[in-house]
Amino acid sequence: MSEAADVLYANARVATLADGYGIIEDGAVAVRAGRIAWVGTRAEAPPAVSTHDCGGLWLTPGLVDCHTHVVYAGNRSDEWEARLNGATYEDIARAGGGIMSTVRATRAASEDELLRASLPRIRALLAEGVTTLEIKSGYGLDLETEAKMLRVARRVGELLPVDVCTTFLGAHALPPEYAGRADDYIDMLCGEMLPALAAQRLVDAVDAFCERIGFSHDQTARVFDVARRLGLPVKLHAEQLSDQGGAALVARYGGLSADHLEWLSEEGVAAMARAGTVAVLLPGAYYFLRETRMPPLAQLRAAGVPIAVATDCNPGTSPMTSLLLAMNMACTLWRLTPLEALRGATVHAARALGLSDVGTLAPGQRADFAFWDIARPADLAYAIGANPCRGVVRAGVWRDRVS
Ligand code: NIG
Ligand code: FE
Repeated sequence: MSEAADVLYANARVATLADGYGIIEDGAVAVRAGRIAWVGTRAEAPPAVSTHDCGGLWLTPGLVDCHTHVVYAGNRSDEWEARLNGATYEDIARAGGGIMSTVRATRAASEDELLRASLPRIRALLAEGVTTLEIKSGYGLDLETEAKMLRVARRVGELLPVDVCTTFLGAHALPPEYAGRADDYIDMLCGEMLPALAAQRLVDAVDAFCERIGFSHDQTARVFDVARRLGLPVKLHAEQLSDQGGAALVARYGGLSADHLEWLSEEGVAAMARAGTVAVLLPGAYYFLRETRMPPLAQLRAAGVPIAVATDCNPGTSPMTSLLLAMNMACTLWRLTPLEALRGATVHAARALGLSDVGTLAPGQRADFAFWDIARPADLAYAIGANPCRGVVRAGVWRDRVS
């Protein structure tokens, strides 16, 4: 390093996650101009204008929640109760509930109300060390409300210490005004909605729900064609409730990720491996829907598909505001290792968002990291309901735990 660093974070136990856990005992991280300038042992630390004593806490990359529907209005505990009384998720959706009940509440909310309803959930995620957050639209299903949701997502990134990646999920469900006319809705989405939102720079990526109760393979492909024309990366809710060949489809478009994947086939795994598409696993939805079919972990591992873990925070299938809990569930329900879960919420989650400068601690990376009061990194996935986060540095700036 030629110039002195701005701050040296010293006396930390560092897990860089650059390779495995990447543990450096008695480690230090030097930050300059919001970026990591150096990582190593304290004994070799470069000069810095100031030093922050980390008191022996563990230091990891800031966590990345790469799949959320955290901006919405209303609540669906009534449907959850109905499901516990025997209804299924698909029954409720077909009867006009499910995603549509959140669409009604989200359309009715003003932009400020929508922001106010969403902030507590986002604060809860941030309190556990999240520094990068994906937020999807998809509860508007008309231009005005989809734009409102995406503007709220952008405002979250201005108001709170977090980087927000927005995803347009207009092909989430068929709005009632298009009942029986799914192809017409997709025409409008492709011809008007997506181009208008992209022109307003509200869209970082494009997603769809390829499912019997969502959109078909062909309709999804039409949405992806427009995304490609607009230069936007794609991802997909794929193989959640049935095998629709969605993972292979999104891989064919060089997609960032295929998400859920409980019904993923061998061909889907192979297509994802070839394309470098990340498998985003969402154990909260599996748990909350009491699903029993697990994503094919052994095949994903054998094929070398990168695996990420996210909350899927949404009112219908995963009302969860804890990425640490998602990591725990991925381990207990599916036997991910704690290392896979942590890499899944950092390195691989960053990749699922197309970001190469977050998710590990290495020179040149954004200075986004979290401090933890734990005995070893596996504790992040081990404890249930504990929050050992003691602070976060984001873009080089320290903040105490958000509460
Ligand atoms: O990721 N699968 C579709 N979308 C959400 C559920 C949305 C909802 O029920 O509100 C999911 O599980
Ligand atoms: Fe989702």
